[in-house]
Amino acid sequence: MIETYFWWQSGSIYHIYPRSFMDSNGDGVGDLAGIIERLDYVDWLGVDAVWISPIFPSPMADFGYDVSDYTAIHPLFGSLHDFDRLVAAAHKRRLKIILDFVPNHTSQLHPWFVESRSSCANARRNWYIWCDPAPGGGPPNNWLSVFGGSAWEWDEATGQYYYHAYLKEQPDLNWRNPEVQEAMFDVMRFWLERGVAGFRVDALRQLIKDEQLRDNPPNPAYRPDQGPYHSLLPIYTTDRPEVLEIVAMMRRVIDSYAERVLIGELYLPIERLVAYYGSDGTGCHLPFNFHLILTPWDARRIAALIDAYEAALPAHGWPNWVLSNHDNPRIASRVGPAQARVAAMLLLTLRGTPTIYYGDEIGMHDVSIPPELAQDPWEKNVPGLGLGRDPERTPMQWDTGPNAGFTAGTPWLPLAAGYPTVNVATEREDPTSMLALYRRLIMLRRAEPALSVGSYRPAGVSGDVLAYLREHEGRRFLVALNLSHAPQQFAPGGLRLHGRAALSTFLDREGEHVSDSLVLRGDEGLIVALD
Ligand code: NOJ
Repeated sequence: MIETYFWWQSGSIYHIYPRSFMDSNGDGVGDLAGIIERLDYVDWLGVDAVWISPIFPSPMADFGYDVSDYTAIHPLFGSLHDFDRLVAAAHKRRLKIILDFVPNHTSQLHPWFVESRSSCANARRNWYIWCDPAPGGGPPNNWLSVFGGSAWEWDEATGQYYYHAYLKEQPDLNWRNPEVQEAMFDVMRFWLERGVAGFRVDALRQLIKDEQLRDNPPNPAYRPDQGPYHSLLPIYTTDRPEVLEIVAMMRRVIDSYAERVLIGELYLPIERLVAYYGSDGTGCHLPFNFHLILTPWDARRIAALIDAYEAALPAHGWPNWVLSNHDNPRIASRVGPAQARVAAMLLLTLRGTPTIYYGDEIGMHDVSIPPELAQDPWEKNVPGLGLGRDPERTPMQWDTGPNAGFTAGTPWLPLAAGYPTVNVATEREDPTSMLALYRRLIMLRRAEPALSVGSYRPAGVSGDVLAYLREHEGRRFLVALNLSHAPQQFAPGGLRLHGRAALSTFLDREGEHVSDSLVLRGDEGLIVALD
C-alpha cells in the first residue's frame, strides 16, 4: 500500500512575526512587501509553509492580537492587494500561507464591541460576555487576566462588567452565541477564498468559559515568579468541554476547502492536548505541541516527553513540534548556542510537523530590552518578572549593514548587538553556520521521508545521549543527540549499528563509516543512515 501524506504532515512550517521580519518602507516595522522581498530566502531555506502572526487592522494594544477588523489588512503591513501579491508570490514558489485567526477576543475598538457596549439592549450585547457585579459589589468572580489583574472590566455607562482573558482592550467574544459563531466562520471563509492554506487559531483553549461562572480554585504549586495569573488553576476559564464542539465546527469550515490545515494554539498537558485531535475529522489537524519549550533540556526528560506524546496520540492524530515562538524565550537563549544546534536536529528529525520560529535558523537569541524601550503590554502590566516578550521579537538579522538590513528607519525594537556575525548574509557564506545546518537538515528531511513521515522508535538514553530510529520503506536512520557539552560514547542496545554519518551538527562527518558504537563530541548530534 502506498501511503500518501498531506503537505502539512511531511512539510515544515516557518513562523514569521511580521513586525520584525522585513521593513520595506522605512517606518521601522516589518510589512507584507518586506515578506515578499524575502520570500526567495524562505524558499531557499526549504520550508513548505509560512505562518504569519496577525496582520489585520488593530490598535496594537497586543501587537495585532487585538483585531478591529478581521477582513482587512493593517495599513502598517500594507493592503489587501499586497496580501494577494504575497499569496501569488508564495504559490509561485510552492509555498503556503497560513494566517493567524484570533477568535477568542476582538479589540475593544472593533465595531461589534463598540455596539455591544453602547447599551444593555443593543442587538450585539450578547456577542460579548457581560455580567452584573457580585451581590456585594465588585467583579462577578475571581477570574484573572493572563496579563495581570482581574479578567473583569467595569463599564460605567451600562453598569456591568465585561470579561477579557487578556488585556481589557481585548474583550472576549461570546462563543455560545450562534451569531458570533457564524460571523467568525465567515471570516475564515473570507481568507480561505483568498487562497490561505489554513489557520493557526489563537487562544483556542479559552474560547468557552464556565456558564455558571464558578470561581477558579487556588493553585497549590503557585510560585510568584510565574506571575499572578498562575495563582489560580484556570479550570473554569480554559479547556472547557464545549471548546471541542467549536473546534468541530471550525473543522467543518476548513474541510469544505481542499487540503487546508487547522492548527490550535493550546498550552495544555499532553493528555489534554491530544483531546484536541477530536474524533477523526472533528478536531485540529495540529494541536500545537509546545512541550519542547516547556520541558527541561535533559536527555531523560526529553525522551520521556517524546514517548509520552507518541503514546498519547490517537490513531488519526499527526504529531507536531515547536521549538520557539513569539511568546517564549528563544531556543538559543534557553539552551545556549551550542545546544541550539542539537535542538535544531531534534526538531527536524522527530516524527511530525516542525515549526521553525524566524531567526532561530541563524541562531538569534533573546535581546534584553531596557525598560524605557519596552513595548509588550505584559511587561508593562507585570514588570520585573521577565514575563515580557519583546526579547524574542527583535528584528530579523539579514546582513552586516545598518540595522542588519531590516529597516532603513528606526526599528521598533533594538537589534541584537551580535548581528554583524549572526545574520543571513554572513551565514550563507559559511558552510558550518547555524543557517547551513538548518538548511541541510530541512533538505535531508525533504529527501528522506523516513525523517518526516517515517516510524519513530526510541533507541534509548545513555548518559546525556538521546537516541531514536526513524524508518520508512526500507530506509533507516539513527539519530543520536548529545545534550551535554562533554563527549559521550553511545552504543544502542539491541541494534546492530552499521552505516554512514549522514549529517553532524558540526557539518563535518558526512560519509564517515559508523559501526558498533558512536563517539559524540560535546554538543554534537549525528544522523546515521543505517545499512
Ligand atoms: C497568544 C498569542 O500568541 C499571544 O501573542 C497573544 O498575546 C495572546 N494569545 C492573546 O491573543
